[in-house]
Amino acid sequence: VSALVVVNIGALYTMERDAHAIADAEVHIDDDGCIGYAGARATAPARDAGATVVDAGEHAVLPGFIDCHTHLLWAGSRDAEFALRSRGASYGEILAAGGGIRNTMRAVRESDDDTLAALLHTRLREMRARGVTTVEVKSGYGLSLEHELRSLAVIKRVHDEGPTDLVATCLSAHAVPPEFEGDRVGYVQHIVDEILPAVSERKLARFCDVFIEGGAFTVTDGFRILTRASSLGMHTRVHAEQLSRSGGAALAAELGAHAAGHLEFVDESDMKALADAGVVCEILAPAQVFLGLQQRIPGRALRDHGCTVAVGTDANPGSAPSLDLHLAGSLAVTMAGLTVDEALLGITKNAARALALDDRGVLTPGMRGDLVVLDTVHAGALFASWGSNHVTHVVKNGALVHMRA
Ligand code: NIG
Ligand code: FE
Repeated sequence: VSALVVVNIGALYTMERDAHAIADAEVHIDDDGCIGYAGARATAPARDAGATVVDAGEHAVLPGFIDCHTHLLWAGSRDAEFALRSRGASYGEILAAGGGIRNTMRAVRESDDDTLAALLHTRLREMRARGVTTVEVKSGYGLSLEHELRSLAVIKRVHDEGPTDLVATCLSAHAVPPEFEGDRVGYVQHIVDEILPAVSERKLARFCDVFIEGGAFTVTDGFRILTRASSLGMHTRVHAEQLSRSGGAALAAELGAHAAGHLEFVDESDMKALADAGVVCEILAPAQVFLGLQQRIPGRALRDHGCTVAVGTDANPGSAPSLDLHLAGSLAVTMAGLTVDEALLGITKNAARALALDDRGVLTPGMRGDLVVLDTVHAGALFASWGSNHVTHVVKNGALVHMRA
C-alpha cells in the first residue's frame, strides 16, 4: 500500500548509477516508509486512493540529501576569534593559544543537555529545509569521559526525537583538553582505556574519528585509537591532511577506514592508497574557503585517481560556520573541480557510502522514502546559485517533513 506518491516529476534523479534523470516520472512510497516504485509514469502501478499526493510541478526530484561530515553539536560562538583572524591570527595559532576547539569545548561543557538538544534541533530544521534528511554529527567538544558521553547521548536523543536521522561519530581525539595539557599521550590512553569502551558499551557511536594534524594528534595516536574503536565494533573515519601532510590519508587506507575528510595536502601515493582501499574521500570546501587557505582542494585529482568522492559541509563554529550543503556542493565544483553530477552524487549516493548506510542515497525500490522536490528541472540549480533555496518539499521515511512557505 502506498502512503505517499510524488506525481508529475519532470526529472527523476534516482542517482542509482549516475546523475541521469528520468523524464515524466513518479515515486511511490509504501506505508513501511520505503520506496515501492521510482520510474517512468507510463509503467507506474495504480496509486492508492488514500495516499498523500505531492505534485512535483514537472520539476526535479532527488534522494534526500546526506551531510556526511559535521560538528553540529556546538554551543557558544567564535565570533571574537573570527575578528582575531581578520587581524592576521591563524586558525592554528588560535588553537595553540587555548582557543578554537577548546573555546567551544568550554561552552559545550557549560551547556545543559536540553540546551544542546535545542541547538541541534534548530540547526537540523534549517538543514531539513534544504533537503538534508540524514546528518553525521561528531562529538569532540566535550573532550572528557563525562562530556563526550553526554554529547553523544544528546545526539542519540535528537535522532530518536526525529525526523532527521543522525549518524553519531565519537571524535574525542579532536583536541587535547586542559586536564591533559602537555600530556597528549596520556589523553590518548584515556580515550583508548576509558572513553571508547564506555561509548561502545552504551552504543552511542557508529563511527570513531581522529583529527590527525600537527598540534592535534599523530598517526601513532590515530592508529591506537582507531584500532581500539574497530575492536569495539565501531567503524572508522579520519580528518586527514587538512592543514599539512600528516599521514592521515595513508592511515585511513591502511586501516580500511570508511572515509577520510579534507585531504587538501594529499600526494600521489596517498590518492592511490585511498583509491585502492576504497576509502570515501570527503570534500569539505567550506572549511578551506572560510579559513582563507590557498591549497587547492584535490576533488578532481581524487576522482582522476579513481577515488569515490562525497561532499560535506564540515559544519562547525570555527572553520566552516555554514549549514548549507548546497553551498558546500557549489564550492566542491568551483574550488575542488568536481562536475555538477559528481557533486550531486557526493551529497546522495556517495555520502551514504561514506556513512556505511546501504538503505539510502538512491531512489530505488526498497530504499528509504527520503526525497527532495526542487522548483527547477535541472538539479544543478542547487549549486548554480548561492543563498536561494530551490527545495520545495522534503519527504522523510514517506512523511512530508517540510514544505516551502
Ligand atoms: O573539521 N579540523 C578539525 N575540526 C574542525 C574544526 C573544528 C573547530 O574549529 O571547532 C574541522 O575543520
Ligand atoms: Fe571536520
